[in-house]
Amino acid sequence: MKRIAVFDTKKYDKEAFNKYSDKYEFAYFKDLLNEHTVALASGFDAVVCFVNDELNAKVLNKLNENNIHGVFLRCAGYNNVDLKAAYSNKVHVARVPAYSPYAIAEHAFALILSLNRHIHKAYIRSRDFNFNLESLTGFDLHDKTVGVIGTGKIGRVFIDIAKGFGMQVICYDPYPIKDAGYEYVSLDEIYQRSDIISLHCPLTQENHHMINHASLEKMKKGVMIINTSRGGLIDSKALLDGLKEKKIGAVGLDVYEEEANLFYHDNSFKIINDDVLALLISLPNVIITSHQAYLTKEALDNIAMTTVKNMDEYFSDELIMNELCYHCEKVQDKANCYRNKKKRCF
Ligand code: NAI
Repeated sequence: MKRIAVFDTKKYDKEAFNKYSDKYEFAYFKDLLNEHTVALASGFDAVVCFVNDELNAKVLNKLNENNIHGVFLRCAGYNNVDLKAAYSNKVHVARVPAYSPYAIAEHAFALILSLNRHIHKAYIRSRDFNFNLESLTGFDLHDKTVGVIGTGKIGRVFIDIAKGFGMQVICYDPYPIKDAGYEYVSLDEIYQRSDIISLHCPLTQENHHMINHASLEKMKKGVMIINTSRGGLIDSKALLDGLKEKKIGAVGLDVYEEEANLFYHDNSFKIINDDVLALLISLPNVIITSHQAYLTKEALDNIAMTTVKNMDEYFSDELIMNELCYHCEKVQDKANCYRNKKKRCF
């Protein structure tokens, strides 16, 4: 039976993956995979990773040296993988492109509703039998304009929910969907017209810190910003400045650019050295959740099922449908792509 090292695991991951323990022998590590922990993978046939594992050139070289050529991401985003280094080390990388767009879009709306109606504050007040309503005034979502950046799987579910609230939806995506009936506008127009902006695009080198001092300058006073995508999309220091200057009305973050060693861990007895995060958390109009938007039962089951399918394809030398490849992304003529001809990228 193939032995699989699963990194950054919690109880709920084990429960989902153990359903497949008749096919694979899983060893669960709490640690993140990085250059200090990669030795743990030695002797295994493949590794399973998550959003904050560091699949950089050093780690991929080590995996190659240990004869490990399969990396299976339990997530959709792959900004933590150096695909060029994976290609040169002959490491196949597969991801779970979709597991529940509903989970993430619904969480984005949970943040919007909580921030707008101050549910996080009202909950604490009523636990103390303080039924005063001062400062709890929200606004109707109906007829407000929401700017959606990225109209992929999650963005589209988010748009459906927004329309259910009777909101005006405007969108930006470098690859607009034809005939979707969406109002696509420029990024600048998103910034200028939106009462709420929600990010649903991947993090790339080009859009790192797309929300920065300059883009905040263009936004409406009192704008609400929601990020359930990747922390690096927002310059957190600029975000904090915008909140202090009251340019931003509210912020909901499920991701944070420096989340790697904080999120998913209990840090309640630690001194947090990240002053920007500490200040953000201290503000009454900011809600931060710990990259939990995906965390529904359905999503966990789908993640485990697709990861196991990816591994099945890899170990049986079949085409790995969800393989990510540095080379394939550059090939224009997909019919001549080595992967499509030979089932494998290398
Ligand atoms: P998707 O691949 O279906 O859609 C992404 C969309 O973004 C595409 O339409 C693409 O054209 C567009 N896009 C690419 N570059 C862009 C840019 N610079 N500006 C605007 N749009 C751009 O991906 P999906 O499934 O909708 O996921 C979106 C993101 O959500 C992922 O990349 C990931 O970072 C994040 N995510 C977060 C989770 C969480 O638990 N918080 C869980 C799953 C995904």
